[in-house]
Amino acid sequence: MRIVTSVRGMQRLARRWRRGGPRVALVPTMGYLHAGHLSLVKLARRKAGRNGRVVVSIYVNPAQFGPGEDFARYPRDLARDKKHCRAAGVDVLFVPPDREMYPDSQNEAFSTFVVEHRLSRGLEGASRPAHFKGVTTVVAKLFNIILPDLAVFGAKDFQQAAVIQQMVRDLNIPVKITVAPIVREADGLALSSRNAYLSPAERRQAVVLRQAIQLAQKKVAASRRFLPASRLRGELIRFIQRQPAARVDYVEFFDPKNLEPVRQVARGVQMALAVFLGKTRLIDNARL
Ligand code: PAF
Repeated sequence: MRIVTSVRGMQRLARRWRRGGPRVALVPTMGYLHAGHLSLVKLARRKAGRNGRVVVSIYVNPAQFGPGEDFARYPRDLARDKKHCRAAGVDVLFVPPDREMYPDSQNEAFSTFVVEHRLSRGLEGASRPAHFKGVTTVVAKLFNIILPDLAVFGAKDFQQAAVIQQMVRDLNIPVKITVAPIVREADGLALSSRNAYLSPAERRQAVVLRQAIQLAQKKVAASRRFLPASRLRGELIRFIQRQPAARVDYVEFFDPKNLEPVRQVARGVQMALAVFLGKTRLIDNARL
């Protein structure tokens, strides 16, 4: 496995691959890799084909964290990530330092951002106003640096995947986006690097996100007609907040195609939620 830290080095390699023709699959991450990331790598390997190349990028992107969020304490363990990537058969690990990705940010000379204006408004975008501007900008930069044919994102970040698909369509970026299913712990908690923040008591209670989704799915399956979103939301918030460490940020029901909120919930509606367990904010989602 080759480790590349400079943008120029990565671009040189990417251009060479372009001439030679192997399919290049990218898995963009912020590191602290877990089985969820490794499932993306596996899918990337399959999609790239036998002669293809799989690139994993690790970059904790400051631009997608708001003031007071967890950028400084976001978990990092490059030595462990390298081992995981080697074992998973990754061809190139791209790990740029900040000075490579945002060379002039100190003097504010970095001034071009990619902003998606429709799908990124609600849900995570409402709670974390500058988040998606940071995500789309860094993903567009990674696409320009690595020139992948395809990129794999996780379905846990449902809105992120939708925003990136929109960006790729709008800007005619020749990258095929694949969205891989959520990987869960045995008790149903979605894998996330942020699970590492949880105390043992918070970890036990964190399963409530999955349980809330299952409760909603059960109610929708049992009802013959539409369920008013406001009533279902209220029931789920009460259910979640029975856990002493839990505080709901949002529970939303929306159309999975355009992310527009719905007033009536029925089969096929997407549900997403964000819940604080102590200071740790976790997200999850599912089709009802
Ligand atoms: O999902 C993530 O880990 C990040 O948002 C991404 C896509 C790597 C961009 O920094």
